[in-house]
Amino acid sequence: MDYPDSVGKLTEILRQGGYLADRGLATALYVALSLQRPILLEGEVGVGKTEAAKVLAAAFGRQLIRLQCYEGIDTNQALYEWDYARQMLYIRALSDRDAAGDEAVDKVFGPRFLVERPLLAAVRAGDRAVLLIDEVDRADDEFEAFLLEVLSDFQISIPEIGTVQATRPPLVVLTSNRTRELHDALKRRCLYHWIGYPPPAREVEIVLVRAPGVAETLARKVVAAVSRLRELDLAKPPGVAETIDWVRTLDFLGETGLSPEIAEDTLGAVVKERDDLELVREHLEEITSSG
Ligand SMILES: Nc1ncnc2c1ncn2[C@@H]1O[C@H](COP(=O)(O)OP(=O)(O)OP(=O)(O)O)[C@@H](O)[C@H]1O
Ligand SMILES: [Mg+2]
Repeated sequence: MDYPDSVGKLTEILRQGGYLADRGLATALYVALSLQRPILLEGEVGVGKTEAAKVLAAAFGRQLIRLQCYEGIDTNQALYEWDYARQMLYIRALSDRDAAGDEAVDKVFGPRFLVERPLLAAVRAGDRAVLLIDEVDRADDEFEAFLLEVLSDFQISIPEIGTVQATRPPLVVLTSNRTRELHDALKRRCLYHWIGYPPPAREVEIVLVRAPGVAETLARKVVAAVSRLRELDLAKPPGVAETIDWVRTLDFLGETGLSPEIAEDTLGAVVKERDDLELVREHLEEITSSG
């Protein structure tokens, strides 16, 4: 796939990949691609942050390398590890004389026993990859500082082996649900884009792209109901993913509309918290009203 030379072209490429980006997001992604800058996508839950990186990788035939962040993730899990088990086996297979030499040590800590983790893989792959650093807000401060280092020079030094550097950096997409504020230093490295809930007309379009074959009227009704749900004070407001699930569920059951009764029976596709369910049940009439 040729690289797009305009925001419009990128929008079209993403659309062909099943992803609908509005002008703001498409512009941000276009600049990130063109200037080789990491991009930080923040936004509500289920609004297409992760999917954006996946579709970009697929559209440009790049390898998607995903670093899923979580509480307690450390540099070993992100960079590389030594395969201890295989190192031990190798050492045991050596005779006493071989094991004493420098050569054996070099081999034990050589490329054969190095297990690549996402960041090393991405530095090695360079611009043949899209590096998705997903849910970076879940990692802790130290890990963020370490990421910052890697993102500044795309260079990783492995004491036993040497330095690995990307000649052309991978496209880096970071996502965050904003469960905590990220550091300014990290943000400064990145372009930034906030993805909010799409306006209803676009959300209908997204549903039709993701669940081809469902009736547009059903999609409209569900989108309208979901946007009312988002106005309630829910602990877990539904994202686009939930809208799609709800439409699919209703379509599967052969429903063409959304009465309060049908909505109640299928709420599990869209509301996934007990307290939220109670609140929603009190408002079913207005949520499903077509006015
Ligand atoms: N703009 C869009 N175009 C096409 N599909 C979309 C779009 N936005 C969301 N989706 C759909 O919603 C699903 C959820 O999106 P995704 O997993 O990327 O959300 P997220 O923002 O990463 O959510 P989370 O915060 O839970 O990680 C996708 O699999 C995709 O089907
Ligand atoms: Mg995600």
